Amino acid sequence: MTETQPAPTLLKDYQPFPFTPTQVDLTFRLKPKASRVLSKIRFTPNPARSGRHDLFLNGEKLKLLWVAIDGQKLDAGALHVTDEGLTIAASQLPDGPFLWEAEVEIDPEGNTALEGLYMSGGIYCTQCEAEGFRKITYYPDRPDVMAPFRVRIESNMPVLLSNGNPVASGPGWAEWDDPWPKPAYLFALVAGDLVNLPDTFTTRSGRKVDLNIWVRKGDLDRCGYAMDSLKRSMTWDEDAYGREYDLDVFNIVAVDDFNMGAMENKGLNIFNSKLVLASPETATDLDYERIEGVIAHEYFHNWTGNRITCRDWFQLCLKEGLTVFRDQQFTSDMRSGPVKRIDDVLTLRARQFREDMGPLSHPVRPDSYIEINNFYTATIYEKGAEVIGMLRSLVGTDGYRRALDLYFDRHDGHAATIEDWLKVFEDATGRDLTQFKRWYTDAGTPRLSVLEAWSDGTYTLTFRQETAPTPGQDEKPPRVIPIAVGLLNPNGDEVLPTTILEMTEKMQSFRFEGLASRPVPSILRGFSAPVVLDRKVDQAERAFLLAHDTDPFNKWEAGRTLARDVLIQMILTGDEPSLRLVSAFETVLLDESLDPAFRALCLRLPSADDLAQSLKDGGHIPDPERIHSETLRLARTIAERLQKPLATVFTNLSDDGRFRNTVARRS
Ligand code: SER
Ligand code: ZN
Repeated sequence: MTETQPAPTLLKDYQPFPFTPTQVDLTFRLKPKASRVLSKIRFTPNPARSGRHDLFLNGEKLKLLWVAIDGQKLDAGALHVTDEGLTIAASQLPDGPFLWEAEVEIDPEGNTALEGLYMSGGIYCTQCEAEGFRKITYYPDRPDVMAPFRVRIESNMPVLLSNGNPVASGPGWAEWDDPWPKPAYLFALVAGDLVNLPDTFTTRSGRKVDLNIWVRKGDLDRCGYAMDSLKRSMTWDEDAYGREYDLDVFNIVAVDDFNMGAMENKGLNIFNSKLVLASPETATDLDYERIEGVIAHEYFHNWTGNRITCRDWFQLCLKEGLTVFRDQQFTSDMRSGPVKRIDDVLTLRARQFREDMGPLSHPVRPDSYIEINNFYTATIYEKGAEVIGMLRSLVGTDGYRRALDLYFDRHDGHAATIEDWLKVFEDATGRDLTQFKRWYTDAGTPRLSVLEAWSDGTYTLTFRQETAPTPGQDEKPPRVIPIAVGLLNPNGDEVLPTTILEMTEKMQSFRFEGLASRPVPSILRGFSAPVVLDRKVDQAERAFLLAHDTDPFNKWEAGRTLARDVLIQMILTGDEPSLRLVSAFETVLLDESLDPAFRALCLRLPSADDLAQSLKDGGHIPDPERIHSETLRLARTIAERLQKPLATVFTNLSDDGRFRNTVARRS
């Protein structure tokens, strides 16, 4: 049997939709197996597409009951219906604005794909990103079609929620109005037997917002941390980006069956319950951090995603890369900045670098897809965030702020592209970003190799960048790489504080003059670009950087690679544990200027996975038993040698032994 591959969707084929919905009114009559959806949509011709056009509306798995245009029911013959949607020929449409009305029937209970309207444990809920709305009713289901929605829900469920502000309700019905034009993927509806944790937030311009977290009855006492995280997110977005919330209510609902972690539907975020519920008895530190981060992420989408959305799904990184970047900034401000950066880089290397090494390697802004649901990847999200971090280091914090202000100003209420995004940076800072754009269009992880030279007080670093071909992209022209570098003199003092070197060529040298002695370089500080740094460093230099580097990321990286090298040697030769490593660990352990979480991370030994990979890279067959026994032997040596300082640090940190979810804030 041969299967035909569906035709890919191409970025270059983009065309605006020929009609603009100016108002959408939906009525839901909910029944588990047969819900009715009545839609009334006012369409007006889109001046961006001149001439007359057929009307195509997406629609899948819908039972169509009737359609009317300007109050006139259409005969079945006037409609062309397929598995993907429905077309009405231009000749059947009025020449100008018209009212579309239709009624369809859907089966929420039978919807096990969890896209569109479905049931989770007796609760009606929706997931429409990316293309789920077409399973609710016929509609131009694409992100550049934005409209205000008014929704009426009729159901015997006690709690009936949708986007926007509540307008009216009575027994068995409720109406919601969302004044902000939005694409259909941000539509949401929830109906269920739920209870709420209520709270309020007053925005800095004085708007009082009702906040609610809706859960099942037994879960009410586990919502407190999520609510606290939401309020901190709202304050942070006002302070850091000048963004205020824009409706009278903000609702969060926790459901058990959810494909994505959570979803930023306008005014009605829906979460997988494990990302909302937490209690000190069962949740770990990591659970709390994740809840805080995802609550923030979805909230931040209100501006980066909802008020400004994506023109098409090729631009997914426009909202996701930026919103991940923003939630990373938030977590760093709430907790330990260095620990957050290290965690993010570990995730990037484990997920995105691996993605880039295989057949699925794709650009941050792809130019073709077959199934958009397969593009919610580490490249779009995590590398998308790294690219914004690089932009920020290139234009500086002030330039970044000016560019973002311009972005919100210029594109509010619109569906934007990566070109629009880069243009605001060019206009706000005067920088030409033509070469930088390759980070969006070219796939693959660049490898950066380094050569050093020292003569007569001048130290030269020569970098070479190389990106291997990826599927469909053989040529890889050089990219702009911001390389953050610092120099230390041999006694450990910093002689050059962090400086951004802008590499634009395939091979490029940077000179540092007037130095009294050959410095030790600290390269790619803060992991300033998502690249692999190839540089041979011996153990003595690693121990030196672990003890003296002022950049926390490189300090940690030096310790991690030193411990890995030491362990690999122990595994291969049975060598004694290195005392150099032990004493470098001791320096970090006792450095009171470093926050405890960061010190704990620095002292963590490499994972078995990491060691096995390094052994493989070196041409050896990993022996799990030796990996385990040698790791244990090194840990024992560290514990014995550092027994006293470890005990002191532990005693100083411990209190009454009870778990608290308070976070260590950066002072
Ligand atoms: N848009 C959703 C999110 O990023 C889907 O994952 O939060
Ligand atoms: Zn997101």
